[in-house]
Amino acid sequence: MNDEQVQGGSLPVAVVTGAGGGIGAAVARRLAHDGFHVCLVDIAAEQVGAVAEGIRANGGSAQSAVVDLRDEDQVATLVAGLQRLDAVVNNAGIFDERAFMDLTAEDFRRHYELNLIAVFRLSRHAVTRLKSGGKIVNIASRAYLGARNHAHYVASKAAVVGLTRAMALELMPQGILVNAIAPGLVDTPLLRALTPERRAAQLALQPTGRAARPEDIANAVAFLAAPETDFITGQILMVDGGKSLGGASGI
Ligand SMILES: NC(=O)c1ccc[n+]([C@@H]2O[C@H](COP(=O)([O-])OP(=O)(O)OC[C@H]3O[C@@H](n4cnc5c(N)ncnc54)[C@H](O)[C@@H]3O)[C@@H](O)[C@H]2O)c1
Repeated sequence: MNDEQVQGGSLPVAVVTGAGGGIGAAVARRLAHDGFHVCLVDIAAEQVGAVAEGIRANGGSAQSAVVDLRDEDQVATLVAGLQRLDAVVNNAGIFDERAFMDLTAEDFRRHYELNLIAVFRLSRHAVTRLKSGGKIVNIASRAYLGARNHAHYVASKAAVVGLTRAMALELMPQGILVNAIAPGLVDTPLLRALTPERRAAQLALQPTGRAARPEDIANAVAFLAAPETDFITGQILMVDGGKSLGGASGI
């Protein structure tokens, strides 16, 4: 733990990874607003500390932890140090653009290491602490359906979808509910990493004419993580403004 050790007393505890980034910060703020004590996890110390500080300044309960989710020991220490655990949001992820013929095996390994294996790693530790009714929400991507110029990312997110469904089945006897959200284009630094031309082209493809706000994703996470949501598991919720329906330009 890098912040104060305060863990919100009797509040339910949610861990949010990648909470220093665009979507993760919005999710952490929303869960704190909904009454969770939020443990914000990120490798970027300054960013995650600032988001946690902002939550506390607004009356929420939050701590931050600087953790490299690719490191087994760091993840084990994180989970063991929590007073209790009620929800995990596996949100940290990386993304870059590369044409299929320019991709290397190393590009795949890098994306799998964080986007897939880190989800498995934290979830596996978390399951030792989650009780019946505990929630795991994985942030996949609409891109798992297929997208040009990032086959490595697409494959890693399709794997997260498979992992989510397999975990939901296997953790069902323990009463742990596992779902995923598949965001479409979201207005975050990840989107801004696209070239201006690609960014404009992507926005033009959105049926609603806009990218999602990080808060649109946080809203869906809040629903799936809420204590009263207790009969939904193994689902992939598209939060993409209808993009996955196709037919954006009419009949
Ligand atoms: N932005 C989009 O359009 C979009 C669309 C669909 C899905 N997603 C998914 O949403 C998630 C969040 O995306 P974002 O746009 O907020 O990205 P972001 O880059 O703003 O945030 C990602 C965060 O993950 C952290 N991180 C990276 N490596 C880490 C590591 N090894 N250990 C711990 N933390 C690490 C980064 O420091 C960063 O704060 C990702 O899984 C992404 O694939 C994003």
